Amino acid sequence: MTELEQQFHALRAEGVAAIAGCADLPALDQLKGQYLGRQGSLTGLLEKLGTLPKDQKPVIGKLANEVKTALTAAIAGKREELEAKVVTTGPAIDTTLPGRRHHLGHQHPLTQIFERAVEIFQRMGFAVEDGPEIEDEWHCFDALNTPANHPARDIQDTLYVDLPPHEKYGRYLLRTHTSPVQIRTMLRQKPPIRIVAPGRVFRRDNPDATHSPTFHQIEGLCVDTNITVADLKGTVEFFFKQLLDPATQVRFRPHFFPYTEPSFEIDLSTPFFRSRGKEWIEIAGCGMVDPNVFKAVGYPDDAYTGWAFGFGIERLAMIQYGITDIRLFTENDVRFLEQF
Ligand code: DAH
Repeated sequence: MTELEQQFHALRAEGVAAIAGCADLPALDQLKGQYLGRQGSLTGLLEKLGTLPKDQKPVIGKLANEVKTALTAAIAGKREELEAKVVTTGPAIDTTLPGRRHHLGHQHPLTQIFERAVEIFQRMGFAVEDGPEIEDEWHCFDALNTPANHPARDIQDTLYVDLPPHEKYGRYLLRTHTSPVQIRTMLRQKPPIRIVAPGRVFRRDNPDATHSPTFHQIEGLCVDTNITVADLKGTVEFFFKQLLDPATQVRFRPHFFPYTEPSFEIDLSTPFFRSRGKEWIEIAGCGMVDPNVFKAVGYPDDAYTGWAFGFGIERLAMIQYGITDIRLFTENDVRFLEQF
């Protein structure tokens, strides 16, 4: 064997061993350059072929080709092996797994009822009004024809705010109902008036399953010439049929509120309530605006008539959704809120 033949054999042995022991792809690329590259060892040997006597050329040329093929094959095999390793040792990805669900938030159940209720009244031509949560005695009670000794004004029932009283309007308090929005609206504008006022109210109650120191109401007020109880009843009936169920029945029971005369309590009956063993549910108060209320806001005597109503949203939601504890509305427990 010629010296050159030995060199080819040695190069093949060395190269194949080096490639077999190679640990990663960058090192393999480097080996490829080292053996097969333009400045590589094999190229160096091949250059010597030109100087060989004619009879040796085919033999050694063949050997040179075998060495080149062997190194190329060794590199390709190693590359395949290393690439497979990169995939299997990377983070485990199972592309057949279902995607992760993004939880979308939604409106609070009370907000949903508010918005639906307001939308029904807006379709009937009602505007939305708002008033302050910190009210005063005059707007919350006096102007609503509620006498000075009325139990609702009692410190046991009303949360008074620790501020010096207003010289004209009396003590500040957290409004106990949305009815003062009636007064503020009538002071601001002349009839015809058609408004609803959704909002938060406060009472001095100890929290339990059915009492909360804060809850929400929707107030309604309609004032014009020749408004009658029939308008009140028709509007209330239409509203609850739209909000709850077209088969809702509405019943008026005589009651007393200082700001309306006559006054009624509104009872509802729906197929859903009946399926839960409840025939009539007492849901709201209403009546024809008392002439003393018109007097308080400075409307001329006998010029207008009107109706008003007010009802609690939590109570309605509790009956409608079968919720047994009013505190759930303010606890922000996602397990509760998710159901709506
Ligand atoms: N303000 C009453 C309450 O909080 C509800 C109410 C009754 C509102 C009769 C009215 C009404 O406007 O006319 O219980």
